[in-house]
Amino acid sequence: MTLAADVREGLSRSPKELAPKYFYDERGSELFDLITTLPEYYPTRCERAILNRHAPEIVAGMEELVELGSGTASKTRALLYAMAGAGSLRRYVPFDVDGSVVALCEEELTELYPGLAVHGVVGDFEHDLGRIPAGERRLFAFLGGTIGNFHAAERADFLTRVRALMDSTDRLVLGTDLVKDRATLEAAYDDGEGVTAEFNRNVLRVLNEALGADFDPDSFDHVARWVEESSRIEMLLRSVREQTISIPGADLEVSFAEGEEMRTEISTKFTPARIEAELGEAGLALEGLLTDPDGLFAVSVATPQQHPHR
Ligand code: SAH
Ligand code: AVI
Repeated sequence: MTLAADVREGLSRSPKELAPKYFYDERGSELFDLITTLPEYYPTRCERAILNRHAPEIVAGMEELVELGSGTASKTRALLYAMAGAGSLRRYVPFDVDGSVVALCEEELTELYPGLAVHGVVGDFEHDLGRIPAGERRLFAFLGGTIGNFHAAERADFLTRVRALMDSTDRLVLGTDLVKDRATLEAAYDDGEGVTAEFNRNVLRVLNEALGADFDPDSFDHVARWVEESSRIEMLLRSVREQTISIPGADLEVSFAEGEEMRTEISTKFTPARIEAELGEAGLALEGLLTDPDGLFAVSVATPQQHPHR
């Protein structure tokens, strides 16, 4: 769906909802990078520790790294470094919906590894996975817990499509955040400096820019809430007053009541059993599940099942 169609559909629902992929223009990607440095936001720190420690076994035998939702690829360096160290690194394929980060990765990594083929793909998981170049001995990496930003049906569909792209010599490395106490989770999504709040409001700026909307980002409060029964954090924007927004590019006028909440992101948290089950449903066999010493985050390694059961 196009942005305009997506926005029309999401804002006509009750409760209103916007897809999290629209956070990520250049400013959104910068804000996300800043989030990853915050003391409250443990996922990046934990995942980096796991990757740094286990990179050689994760990349063993792999010649290519295909990174889905690569962002600025800050943690990926550990994997590339291990592949380069083993003398097997041939190509890096960063795939992201935000062209600014793909361009940055292409520039930085070509400089860092002269001779490395960097093939960036600017695209959407929903329609563009087919643009990933064919190959073998490819390590597909989907890090950061981004899979948690999908609803269950979207996760199943996504993993099935990734599995279908994979050759028997390919491997998947998947980062997932784990279930934990409410206080830790809510603090990670509502930091003291207000960076996550700005990241959340950035979606309104994106709609202003792309669709000529007249959102006043300051008229929406940032809300982050752990919803235990759905095992997920929900990020919302709560209208501080009654207001009507005009979105000409989506041919839409939309009213918010005072206190009305619009969901902008879900961030699902997993148990190891659920990760294994969802991978299995998509025809991927879990080979190993690695966690940080505090058990906050998991990195799973999976391979295509020889006889997928669906
Ligand atoms: N992998 C990095 C970045 C995670 S942020 C890390 O672990 O730190 C999530 C990334 O996924 C962003 O760069 C965002 O632009 C990208 N993304 C989100 N939705 C997407 C979609 N539908 N298609 C492609 N990329 C998407
Ligand atoms: C990219 N994704 C995994 C992040 C998350 O934690 O769900 C996005 C994010 N939202 C708020 N802070 C970070």
